[in-house]
Amino acid sequence: MEPIKFNPQSRVFTLRTCSTMYQMQIERYDTLVHLYYGADLGDTEVVHRIVNLDRGFSGNPYEAEDDRRFSLDVLPQEYTAEGNGDYRIQGIEIRHTDGSNCLQLKYCSHQILPGKYRLPGLPSLFTTQESDAATLEILLKDEPSGVEVKLLYGVFPQCDVITRAVEITNHGTSRIALKKAMSLELDFPKRSMDLIHFYGRHNMERQTERRPITHGIQSIESKRGMSSHHHNPAVLICDRRATEDYGDCYGIVFVYSGNFECQVELDQAEQTRLVMGIHPSNFSFRLSPGESFTTPEAVMTWSGKGLEQISHHFHDAFRNHLIRSSYVNRHRPVLVNNWEATYFQFDEKKLYGIAKAAKEIGIELFVLDDGWFGKRDDDISGLGDWYVNEKKIHGGLPALVQKIHNLGMKFGIWIEPEMISEDSDLYRLHPDWCLKVPGRNPMTSRGQLNLDVSRKEVRDYVMEQIFQVLDSCHVEYVKWDVNRAVGNVFSQSLPEDRQGEVLHRHMLGVYDMMEQLITRYPDLLLETCAGGGGRFDAGMLYYSPQIWCSDNTDAIDRLEIQYGTSFIYPISTMGAHVSVCPNHQTGRTTDMNTRAVVAMSGTFGYELDLEHMTKEEKEIASDLITQFKEIEPMIQNGDYYRITAPKDENNAVVWSFVSKDKAKVLVCGVVLRKYPNPPITLLHLRGLDPQKKYKETLTGQIYTGAVLMYAGIPLPLPSMDYESLQYRFEETNEI
Ligand code: GLA
Repeated sequence: MEPIKFNPQSRVFTLRTCSTMYQMQIERYDTLVHLYYGADLGDTEVVHRIVNLDRGFSGNPYEAEDDRRFSLDVLPQEYTAEGNGDYRIQGIEIRHTDGSNCLQLKYCSHQILPGKYRLPGLPSLFTTQESDAATLEILLKDEPSGVEVKLLYGVFPQCDVITRAVEITNHGTSRIALKKAMSLELDFPKRSMDLIHFYGRHNMERQTERRPITHGIQSIESKRGMSSHHHNPAVLICDRRATEDYGDCYGIVFVYSGNFECQVELDQAEQTRLVMGIHPSNFSFRLSPGESFTTPEAVMTWSGKGLEQISHHFHDAFRNHLIRSSYVNRHRPVLVNNWEATYFQFDEKKLYGIAKAAKEIGIELFVLDDGWFGKRDDDISGLGDWYVNEKKIHGGLPALVQKIHNLGMKFGIWIEPEMISEDSDLYRLHPDWCLKVPGRNPMTSRGQLNLDVSRKEVRDYVMEQIFQVLDSCHVEYVKWDVNRAVGNVFSQSLPEDRQGEVLHRHMLGVYDMMEQLITRYPDLLLETCAGGGGRFDAGMLYYSPQIWCSDNTDAIDRLEIQYGTSFIYPISTMGAHVSVCPNHQTGRTTDMNTRAVVAMSGTFGYELDLEHMTKEEKEIASDLITQFKEIEPMIQNGDYYRITAPKDENNAVVWSFVSKDKAKVLVCGVVLRKYPNPPITLLHLRGLDPQKKYKETLTGQIYTGAVLMYAGIPLPLPSMDYESLQYRFEETNEI
């Protein structure tokens, strides 16, 4: 199967993956129209899908002369521009020097290339060998202005995803302003579809919402300079009847961590258009003749078997082609983090005490969180001063780290390099290094300001400070945090007509800093974080194999947060810890097993004062680490199934992992309420081989895959609220 084909007679492009097909055609007047995205149709070209009608008030290109049936206003297209008679949401908008915004994008040429295109300075899917992917570049041109738009398609046949990006070049003779440059546009013919997206807030990220796509425009977006707690740059579009294992579904993920907008519009002809890209708000990129702008990447996939297959496609694609860290599918050290144990109040004795207690129960990595540097006794000072606070850590960091290493543990440290406190030596030295609008008081958040990391000298200075710390004590893990949204958007380094570039340049600056870090320390385990999960996106996964999922460590709230996250992101990317009860965020008390079952479907670690644990609690905590290590390969590499949903009628949240060879199954869950005289719920597993026999490892009970999937097994009756369950099944030949 050729992943990319062009038929010069029909002028049809066909992109194929193992089970999907994407088709477009160069139509009349060199217009690039979208024909199809869905199940693989073999060699068929579906040009008959385009039906032209004369529609009142939908104008026609001049070249169409008397043909009133050819209108850009209703044609499904690949990438559309403002000012051209298509009044729907669009991919690109340009302001020419004369003030006009018209752009008539016409097919010019194309190239089919082996391997995957690259996006320098931006996160994007990669190949490990050239045969993993193929690239299609289609060049569109606006003849009068000389503006060229190159559409990039990366086809990954094995994991059924197609990536998209766009490169805009000014080949004209005068300067233009790029006002909007979406990464992806996708048109769907008339049908009833739902939009699923992931909204939230600090401490409650990625809640799942499903709603019908109705007339007008719906928008999911962030203008916060980070992908945000409030919306996630990923959506699913599906048939109204689609469920986890039934129906047509599409997934679209933006590989970017800054401002984004995903708009969905149902038009006059009941067609749906989706665009995804950098948010046009406060965005304007100046392009002088010869200059180009490259958008970030978007990834799309299709499933004809419901939502879970969308998740499988994304999980596989991200594990194999996005996360570069060598930790992606190897054991991540079980960690203890001192944040919820001490907050800012600690000294070296307290830290060592926690580390020692951690070692005794089998923890492998000690992470020193916020508060170790500068004058950082609370959250309003010290950011930017990346040298140890010897008033807290007497004797300095290397001495403490040496003691921790002597315990046979790894050492990790928290940093927040994109920020500055007004009460810091760095601010006193360089007050102009933060984002601040001249003549106005800045908006503060958590008492801090954004460093202007769009400036190279600023990022190089900060990274140099951080490198000195890391070099001084052999640090094996870094938690890279960001605890406020970007605001006061103005860079002292750019002229007035380029201030619209700041937000994107800022994001590119963050990526550059992360690249510097992982290039210098290739074995470092990097966990990114943004006040919990405020920057949980595919862009970050290019740099860090795990992201702190939420500051809310309550196991029951985490069921919902991790459920939403699982639709798009691999389970092994979710930072998850067992914390103390009553929980610091919710006041809720849950059993340690429950907290652990939830945290094990993530990176697993502890975040509590181990010195305060009883002997019995320590024994349980230690057993849980042993258990986690046994199941970790399943969690990292297995296929994930959402068996029940947090708010459905089952009174339990249950999920499972099935190994790729279908020989091993891990079922995890939490029963929410203990009801007296309860109804009996049968759990129907999915993804097993119906013919295989599976033995439950604890009881030795044997079932066929068919029984586990179609007849189901009863959900255990809990002895109290929030009781957890964990079953393991293994393929057996026993009768
Ligand atoms: C953020 C993180 C927390 C912790 C604090 C420290 O909120 O999400 O885990 O590191 O910062 O200030």
